[in-house]
Amino acid sequence: MEQTLAILKPDCVRRGLIGEVIRRIEAAGFRIRAMKMVHLTKKEAEGFYAVHRGRPFFEELTTFMSSGPCVPMVLEKENAVADFRALIGATDPAEAAEGTIRREFAESKGQNIVHGSDSVENARIEIHFFFPSIELVDRR
Ligand code: PPS
Repeated sequence: MEQTLAILKPDCVRRGLIGEVIRRIEAAGFRIRAMKMVHLTKKEAEGFYAVHRGRPFFEELTTFMSSGPCVPMVLEKENAVADFRALIGATDPAEAAEGTIRREFAESKGQNIVHGSDSVENARIEIHFFFPSIELVDRR
């Protein structure tokens, strides 16, 4: 079974959409294997998004991601990485397909409700950024 890392971003938490987004994730067949609420510091957000350092949106992205609590979770399903990206839709909600989470709820390219890993390799790295192995549930 493949795993991916999802983050319900600070706009999702602030707008009271945690339950609705998790409902859609579970309805799409993902099993939640780990989940918690954390408030990242600016430095931690910069660490998580280190690959984007130097991009024009880096400051805005890391300030936003450290602006309030977020909910990282480990999701499991066959083809989890690609299927989760399909469920959430394109980064820019204006370009996201009808019926996707971002199309429905996101306000902008920056404040776009949810993050999903973009590859199996990055999923592994991102899962370990948030979750020590003791927090990863392995019971069926
Ligand atoms: S990439 O690498 O060019 O495909 O980048 P992309 O996936 O489009 O975006 C990477 C993350 O940066 C966020 N982003 C922004 N944040 C703030 N302002 C602007 N303008 C902006 N543009 C992109 C975007 O939400 C992505 O976050 P994650 O958490 O990876 O989805």
